[in-house]
Amino acid sequence: MSKNKLRSGIAGVGMYVPDKTVTNAELEKIVETSDEWIQSRTGIKERHIASTEQAASDLGVIAAKQALANAKISPSEVDLIIVATATSDMQFPSTACIIQAALGLNDVPAFDVTAGCAGFIYGLSIGSQFIENGTYENVLVIGTEVLSKITNWTDRETCVLLADGAGAVVLRPALPGYGLLALRLGADGSGGKHLLMPAGGSRMPVTSEAIEKNLNTLHMNGHEVFKFAMKKLPEAVEQVLMAAQIDKNEVALVIPHQANRRIIEAAARNLEMPIEKFMINLDRYGNTSSASIPIALYEALENYLIKPGDNIVLVGFGAGLTWGAVAMRWGM
Ligand code: UT7
Repeated sequence: MSKNKLRSGIAGVGMYVPDKTVTNAELEKIVETSDEWIQSRTGIKERHIASTEQAASDLGVIAAKQALANAKISPSEVDLIIVATATSDMQFPSTACIIQAALGLNDVPAFDVTAGCAGFIYGLSIGSQFIENGTYENVLVIGTEVLSKITNWTDRETCVLLADGAGAVVLRPALPGYGLLALRLGADGSGGKHLLMPAGGSRMPVTSEAIEKNLNTLHMNGHEVFKFAMKKLPEAVEQVLMAAQIDKNEVALVIPHQANRRIIEAAARNLEMPIEKFMINLDRYGNTSSASIPIALYEALENYLIKPGDNIVLVGFGAGLTWGAVAMRWGM
């Protein structure tokens, strides 16, 4: 680990969730489920759901503005916008371009990243390269999702999990010794069949038949994704800590993708780390895919769980199948 290498740090974080909350009791009225099952199998108590008018960019813009304000950066200073989303406003243009226009910017590059629930980690990793090689100074990375719009509300195996929200960070060059220390990304395309939206792309355009079969909604083999997450989450944390040359005892907080409390608890056990070192807020937000890590990071900061100099790990896994982890020393 070179001491003089220019590193990227997080200068500001923002989040936004829609006003409307849906409790487990409310879901009991639309599918055959129970608050007891959802809480004991996932840890989720309630989630936020977007209004019919709200698209991914609407949520992302609000989170981005808050991240910029917290970083004390004006939108005009942004050099690059990266948006991680599986629920883009439309197939094209990219949600990043829509957010760029909504922020009143033009000329700055903007693009989307598709890496499922690991999308934010992928976006952060890409953005940090531009900082570290000196190309850009202020990179906005946003994770935003309106999963409720691709949810099959008759499928109890997925509808109780999915939710809407957005989180954003501003990356800037960090002071020596701070910022992003190491990253690890991975993918296993052979597992793509376990978590997908079959219709809506060039393989299967949306037809009335596809809609009838709910193929334009998220399909998941929960058991397979669970097994994958149980393996990859601790593995990715271990690998990124090794790359950063940090012992797990020196980690102040791990911020994992918020899919299922049992997955996070198993990772803590597997890594022999106390569960208190894992940020968990899925009880109030459900699974917001690429937004879950920046939302959890925002709340960790709000609750003073991270202080300058702390080593933290962000780790995600999801559709692709993909995974990724980032180790950082907090502070600028
Ligand atoms: O963010 C992207 C990554 N996604 C994930 O990480 C999700 C990973 N998977 C999971 O979190 C879990 O697999 C689930 C929460 C989706 C399911 O939990 P599980 O403990 O693996 O349950 P299961 O799929 O083995 O199902 C157990 C039983 C089944 O009934 P039978 O066959 O035993 O009679 C299901 O039909 O629970 C039933 N079940 C439900 N019951 C009440 C499934 N969903 C529900 C439900 N309410 N909502």
